Amino acid sequence: MSKEIIKIEDLKREFMMGTEKVQALKGISFGIQQGEFVTIMGSSGSGKSTLLNILGCLDQPSSGIYEIDGVKVKDLTKNELATIRNEKIGFIFQSYNLLAKTSAIENVELPLLYNSKVSSEERRERAIKVLKMVGLGERMHHTPSQLSGGQQQRVAIARSLVNNPVMILADEATGNLDTRTSYEIMSLFQELNKQGITITFVTHEPDIATFSSRTIVLKDGNVISDYKNEAIQSAAEQLANLPKENH
Ligand SMILES: Nc1ncnc2c1ncn2[C@@H]1O[C@H](COP(=O)(O)OP(=O)(O)OP(=O)(O)O)[C@@H](O)[C@H]1O
Ligand SMILES: [Mg+2]
Repeated sequence: MSKEIIKIEDLKREFMMGTEKVQALKGISFGIQQGEFVTIMGSSGSGKSTLLNILGCLDQPSSGIYEIDGVKVKDLTKNELATIRNEKIGFIFQSYNLLAKTSAIENVELPLLYNSKVSSEERRERAIKVLKMVGLGERMHHTPSQLSGGQQQRVAIARSLVNNPVMILADEATGNLDTRTSYEIMSLFQELNKQGITITFVTHEPDIATFSSRTIVLKDGNVISDYKNEAIQSAAEQLANLPKENH
């Protein structure tokens, strides 16, 4: 019934540091079904970013299997990999990674520039649509420095959505944001997830994990637990319950 979007088996990633070998991932296996909202937790250095970069095809494992939407990533050519990365995956970083002197709308249009099937009119229309979706309909011509941190992260989220990806990967996407803004962003992720987008979200913060449907915990490059959340919290509700002062 449900489709497996991500499947990894005995995934390993080693780095050479001078003559020393660092085993960042020591043989990880799991699957993520379409429509899941997974948080990946674990202390600093446990391998979260290394894992997410592999899932996002920004890096290759040293060994093991990675299948995305039924396709073995290892068998892809460079071009096919670039296409998958661009069209199936939306990637969101802690530091937003927006172009500084470029308006919100142009930042969001960027991933479509490489897609020859999309005309410039359609590009603009799609950018406007996703910016409205993330609540930035009134800020489309602002540059990043004219936007708050939370608004900049919304631009990054809009950019990740503009290609209608099957999944979103986020690495500490709320790491630079205060509690209120984090909950606003989580509420947005929960809405996107309700619309069917699969989300994999790296975070340090246990309260952020309560908004997801499943948590995978890494330690020293291994999965030490993997559980479904019985009581998923609503970020919108938690947001409404926050004390009003300071805002
Ligand atoms: N390019 C690299 N070269 C060498 N070692 C690396 C490289 N990238 C990561 N590592 C090592 O791999 C391990 C896992 O790093 P990773 O960045 O995945 O951790 P993390 O869980 O994301 O940590 P944090 O919570 O601090 O972001 C660490 O020991 C790190 O030093
Ligand atoms: Mg990291």
